Amino acid sequence: MLRIFVIVIIANAAMAQVPFLGTCPNLEAAQNFELDKYLGKWYEVERYFAWFEFSGKCVTANYSLNENDTVKIVNKQISSLTGVATSIEGIGRLIGRSDDSKLTVTFPSLPLPFDAPYWVLDTDYESYTVVWSCTNLGVFNVRNVWILTREPKPPVAVLEKAYQIIDKNNISRAYFIRTDQKNCPGSY
Ligand SMILES: *[C@@H]1O[C@H](CO)[C@@H](O)[C@H](O)[C@H]1NC(C)=O
Ligand SMILES: *[C@@H]1O[C@H](CO)[C@@H](O)[C@H](O)[C@H]1NC(C)=O
Ligand SMILES: *[C@@H]1O[C@H](CO)[C@@H](O)[C@H](O)[C@H]1NC(C)=O
Repeated sequence: MLRIFVIVIIANAAMAQVPFLGTCPNLEAAQNFELDKYLGKWYEVERYFAWFEFSGKCVTANYSLNENDTVKIVNKQISSLTGVATSIEGIGRLIGRSDDSKLTVTFPSLPLPFDAPYWVLDTDYESYTVVWSCTNLGVFNVRNVWILTREPKPPVAVLEKAYQIIDKNNISRAYFIRTDQKNCPGSY
């Protein structure tokens, strides 16, 4: 049990997931996924919150293809406390068919790199994506959900589409926090 807790704490420090009792719900990832259209820059507008999470603002993700067809991930953020910008590089891999929107994501520079699931529940490629990550850990599971958008301050209609996906999948909205995307450096 202790070991599970240590893993959860490390995993949470890295991925800031929220623990739930039981196993991961059986959700369906997006069909006919087109990775090419998904690449590029996304802004994090909301994510699941865990109390031990370090605060970051101006969080962005940039996805591009590596030469071996894995996905190069560059996540950037600015510390709300210190104002210091940091970035972390990861690798994403499609785990099923190429039109299946299920990936695993690894950040090799983390103290405990592990393959985290990254499922696109739905995206229109042009304005929003809803990303689901759930890992079974014994008697409970840890979850994260992200709403990423192409614009740092998306119109309400775009957020509504994302919320519809979240509601359709019975994902609780209670753990969402808004990511601060105000006063971010333009070139960032
Ligand atoms: C995203 O990453 C690609 C590949 O490294 C790079 O060419 C592109 O300029 C980046 N885009 C942004 C907006 O940072
Ligand atoms: C694919 O390329 C990336 C970037 O060069 C590298 O970090 C990664 O280990 C490679 N993955 C595989 C499965 O070859
Ligand atoms: C969401 O909950 C409703 C009512 O309990 C259920 O009918 C539906 O199948 C659930 N949907 C998913 C994706 O779990």
